[in-house]
Amino acid sequence: MKILTIFLLVFSLCMFGHVSSAGIRIVNELKNKKSFWMRCYSKNDVLGPIIILNGGHFTDYFFHNLFGTMHFMCILKQGPEFKHNQSFRAFKKSRLWEWRAIQDGIYLRRIYKARFDVSIENIHKEHDWIL
Ligand SMILES: *[C@@H]1O[C@H](CO)[C@@H](O)[C@H](O)[C@H]1NC(C)=O
Repeated sequence: MKILTIFLLVFSLCMFGHVSSAGIRIVNELKNKKSFWMRCYSKNDVLGPIIILNGGHFTDYFFHNLFGTMHFMCILKQGPEFKHNQSFRAFKKSRLWEWRAIQDGIYLRRIYKARFDVSIENIHKEHDWIL
């Protein structure tokens, strides 16, 4: 009986870990049709480097671990010769982290849903570009 209880507990933790969404999206909303360069990395993964065209975005959903120890750091570069840059922690623990690269900085919106959507509610500026 005890073993069954432990099994059910572990099983439900696993299920929960897999159904709750985790991911990052980085949207290019710079002006003058500018592209940006991006690269992200966690302890085990590298995303990019990739160039995101104006109006486009990069999106990745992934399985996060149960203990919420997963992090992604990202660096974005934009402007002439991609010389304005910013690096920041783009993902921590769980949920969806949507970043928008706009002319005056990088904005964040945390999304408590299963999928990214087009809303801009609760968006706020998190970082300036390094000039
Ligand atoms: C970011 O920009 C600064 C200032 O131009 C520069 O010194 C630094 O090397 C850049 N970092 C990266 C990773 O490109």
